[in-house]
Amino acid sequence: MSAAPHEIERILFTEEQIQERIRAVGAQISGDFTGRELKLIGVLKGSVFFLTALARELRLPVRIDFLAISPFTGQRSGPGLVRLAKDLDESIEGEHVLLVEDIVDTGFTTRYLLQNLAARGPASLGIVTLLDRTPRRIVQVPVNYSCFEIPDRFVVGFGLDYKQLYRNLGYIAALKPD
Ligand code: IMP
Ligand code: MG
Repeated sequence: MSAAPHEIERILFTEEQIQERIRAVGAQISGDFTGRELKLIGVLKGSVFFLTALARELRLPVRIDFLAISPFTGQRSGPGLVRLAKDLDESIEGEHVLLVEDIVDTGFTTRYLLQNLAARGPASLGIVTLLDRTPRRIVQVPVNYSCFEIPDRFVVGFGLDYKQLYRNLGYIAALKPD
């Protein structure tokens, strides 16, 4: 592994640890959905790295779709207010759906997406997240599968960014406070 960028303070999870957890969570999901088809819905851009790694561990017929969100701007802007910037390409009606998140933090984004997706009539709807930061949770959301719990530190890598950088790091790290 090449040297970490100097803005990195500490590696929280190595590539090997991440791969091992994704393999375990993938096995759990494969067991829970045996005999069914699964639709994975990724939230651009952060969850792309996790989604592709997870999908390869699933022993199920899998379909993949993406949506993108952006902060709501204008008079109704405020914490956790988001809008769909890109919608799904296909219907999820009657399908078993897992929303794939990079991190569930306050829970606002995930709650908005769950409500939006639930209204489309999936057969089932769950959440799988790479990181779960429960100390900062404001709205409760049912996280079905989580790879790692993290403390209240800003993290980057494996899809997570700071100003659009560091998504391509294979590990997950805390940034130096600046
Ligand atoms: P929530 O609505 O507060 O749960 O925020 C979720 C979104 O905030 C995530 O999908 C990330 O894009 C972003 N985010 C929250 N915490 C971090 C972090 O530590 N590093 C990078 N992005 C983060
Ligand atoms: Mg982000």
